[in-house]
Amino acid sequence: MNALAATSRNFKQAAKLLGLDSKLEKSLLIPFREIKVDPDEVNALAQLMTWKTAVANIPYGGAKGGIGCSPGDLSISELERLTRVFTQKIHDLIGIHADVPAPDMGTNSQDLGGSLGRDAATGRGVLFATEALLAEHGKGIAGQRFVIQGFGNVGSWAAQLISEAGGKVIAISDVTGAVKNTNGLDIPKLVKHSAENRGIKGFNGGDSIDPHSLLTEECDVLIPAALGGVINKLALLVAEMSSYPLPGFHLQILAKKGVLILPDILANSGGVTVSYFEWVQNIQGFMWDEEKVNAELKTYMTRGFKDVKEMCRSHNCDLRMGAFTLGVNRVARATVLRGWEA
Ligand SMILES: NC(=O)c1ccc[n+]([C@@H]2O[C@H](COP(=O)([O-])OP(=O)(O)OC[C@H]3O[C@@H](n4cnc5c(N)ncnc54)[C@H](O)[C@@H]3O)[C@@H](O)[C@H]2O)c1
Repeated sequence: MNALAATSRNFKQAAKLLGLDSKLEKSLLIPFREIKVDPDEVNALAQLMTWKTAVANIPYGGAKGGIGCSPGDLSISELERLTRVFTQKIHDLIGIHADVPAPDMGTNSQDLGGSLGRDAATGRGVLFATEALLAEHGKGIAGQRFVIQGFGNVGSWAAQLISEAGGKVIAISDVTGAVKNTNGLDIPKLVKHSAENRGIKGFNGGDSIDPHSLLTEECDVLIPAALGGVINKLALLVAEMSSYPLPGFHLQILAKKGVLILPDILANSGGVTVSYFEWVQNIQGFMWDEEKVNAELKTYMTRGFKDVKEMCRSHNCDLRMGAFTLGVNRVARATVLRGWEA
């Protein structure tokens, strides 16, 4: 099942649970603007962004765009020129009260006027959301075994914050390789190694393992923070950081095994939430200290989790459908209040 089909299936199920008018349902699926890249993928990602900002309850819609390139192969000045040309081409479409681009895979936080805490925000968001879910089961981060796929912005921050909170990160992979240490990896050392060697390959604080086997390592929490379409057979909880990381039929297998899935549109919403804080600070010309950013992020993530759980209760559904019904319902209600008519 491709990304658009999987996302649309969840949307349709949510619309059915909500009893949405069929014409409203159709109109919610038409993107406001689409600049052709890979239409299916970008449409799915823009849709996910829409439901995600609604779950986070921030005053944004959803859009997605990108440049097809390998940023790791480009020099800083090539990256700068590429970014400037891209910005110039979409200049008419972006702006403080129009559409605000935010960082994602393959980008970095080199910026003027950026918010403190943005760099770590997506990783910190997954920490808060995972904490909220574990707390429901009488558990905390401390003592749980984590496996993380991807050691870029999201994966490396998640690893650092989880290990600071007492979690044991036992295996990590990136595009260069994978490393495992059942006693827990030394994350600050791995961060240093990765920065110096452009990847985790060659790290001597654990055993080098086949990156494909990482996803079948036994653990309590798996965090897919690299690409879409991955699966883990042995985790108790999967916190999805990549967008649509798990194909539909795998989800059913995992559900049967009792694996809880913290869905992408909730788990990775910390990034866009702090992008929203950044926007607010820049408009006001009043910068917050990092403590305030992190405390506000915790409030938003915890509230998002509670709101999702409320939908799970009222629609008798799992966390993914709880998040989808929450996001879709908020957008549908706003659309109707803005004057939408059948
Ligand atoms: N950065 C954000 O704020 C943000 C917000 C929401 C969602 N996400 C999603 O989280 C995921 C990670 O984003 P990021 O910003 O950390 O990207 P990044 O470019 O900083 O890092 C990506 C990481 O994935 C690794 N990777 C790539 N291919 C891999 C493979 N085949 N196996 C294992 N590892 C592989 C890379 O080596 C790198 O460590 C993406 O799917 C992104 O869309 C990011």
